[in-house]
Amino acid sequence: MAVYSIVKIGDPVLRERAQEVKEVNDTIKKLLKNMADTMYDAKGVGLAAPQIGVSKRVIVVDVGEGLVELVNPEIIELSDETEIDIEGCLSIPGVQGEVERAKRIRVKGLDGDGNNVIINAEDFFARALQHEIDHLDGVLFVDKVKRFVD
Ligand code: CO
Repeated sequence: MAVYSIVKIGDPVLRERAQEVKEVNDTIKKLLKNMADTMYDAKGVGLAAPQIGVSKRVIVVDVGEGLVELVNPEIIELSDETEIDIEGCLSIPGVQGEVERAKRIRVKGLDGDGNNVIINAEDFFARALQHEIDHLDGVLFVDKVKRFVD
């Protein structure tokens, strides 16, 4: 198990557009494994590679329904229906706020074996995916927050 240190807000890597992954090779598989270890160690529900200082389009999410690994994730459908709920971020310790997100999304990408996958997500799973995919475009939840909460 390898746990990376998590990059905090203010580090420019969090504001970059992360690079597409060309091939899900052993380096990417190791990155996914170590990102999952880091996420679980930090008791997070999602982690994007820029948060460990790696500017690649790689995310992991686990909202309690098992680990989801995605490479080059892309949202291909968003519901018009939205939901407002509270988010936090491992890169922004101690801050929480209400963010409006699409209630349902469809995401395409590659899984940890490099296979094409399509994921239909709703509610909190959809929220976590939207939050992590935002990280790949240098967007943080505080950019979208409607109201900070204590
Ligand atoms: Co985050």
